Amino acid sequence: MKVGIIGCGFIGSELAYFMDKSKDFQLIGMNDIDKNKVYGLIKNLKGNNPKFMDIDELIKKSDLIVESATKNIVKDILSNKNLDKKNKRLLIMSTGGLIGSLKLLNNIKNCEILLPSGAIAGLDAIKSVSGKIKSLNLATTKPVKGLEGAPYILKNKIVLSDITGKRTVFKGNLSDAVGGFPQNINVAAALFLASKFDNIKVKIIADKNAKYNTHEIEAIGDFGVITIKTQNLPSKNPKTSYLALLSAVQMIKSLKNNVKIGS
Ligand SMILES: NC(=O)c1ccc[n+]([C@@H]2O[C@H](COP(=O)([O-])OP(=O)(O)OC[C@H]3O[C@@H](n4cnc5c(N)ncnc54)[C@H](O)[C@@H]3O)[C@@H](O)[C@H]2O)c1
Repeated sequence: MKVGIIGCGFIGSELAYFMDKSKDFQLIGMNDIDKNKVYGLIKNLKGNNPKFMDIDELIKKSDLIVESATKNIVKDILSNKNLDKKNKRLLIMSTGGLIGSLKLLNNIKNCEILLPSGAIAGLDAIKSVSGKIKSLNLATTKPVKGLEGAPYILKNKIVLSDITGKRTVFKGNLSDAVGGFPQNINVAAALFLASKFDNIKVKIIADKNAKYNTHEIEAIGDFGVITIKTQNLPSKNPKTSYLALLSAVQMIKSLKNNVKIGS
């Protein structure tokens, strides 16, 4: 399977190394707004010899396109004329970017869209109870460092260094959470896409002493109560949980597995 990666930061680089060691995947193209990242990465690869490609060429030539860049690019990728072809697959990490592009997503008929569980667990159960949910809450607690630079923090002049213990810095709905914390709250978008529940309540807590990125989800409905909690160690990128990378690797591996586990 020929693979192209858009966005060569933490997740993109690790996936490139994974592809490089795999016999099932051939990395042929990479793209990043910072070309030096691509060239630096190419130098370190041993099994594959990908080229820097612009996004058009990368989408045209790849069977599997991996988006691991930014939510701002998701719309352009979904509307690319070369994408919606049979035997193409698009894996999207910046799930938050889908919230403003739901129509485009629904119009895609041929290309298979892959959305890894990312930094959370339990999306299988949330999908199963879709349509039966009465309330759905997400509370995300992050070390202060993981929230630095978020548009909501900057706009509201929240001084993160003043936080001594735990402080709720945001309470609101999904679209405000996605807009205000684009690099932190892909999980809320994934929850929405799995549940189709349009009144998710999101809370974001900054914790000076937190070691983990913690996501606590509670869904209530006719089925009972589903409670899901993940306590993730941040990766090299403090905004990204290590589990998010592992979930992408697992989804890519499953493309070649004939035994599928979990719904
Ligand atoms: N689904 C989830 O649960 C989940 C979890 C963690 C991260 N993410 C998302 O995955 C994406 C990648 O995460 P990461 O930790 O690798 O981030 P990162 O910041 O380490 O890497 C992102 C890379 O994309 C590049 N980039 C930015 N804008 C670009 C553009 N317009 N075109 C091409 N390249 C561009 C950057 O230069 C950088 O190299 C982010 O959007 C992040 O929010 C999703």
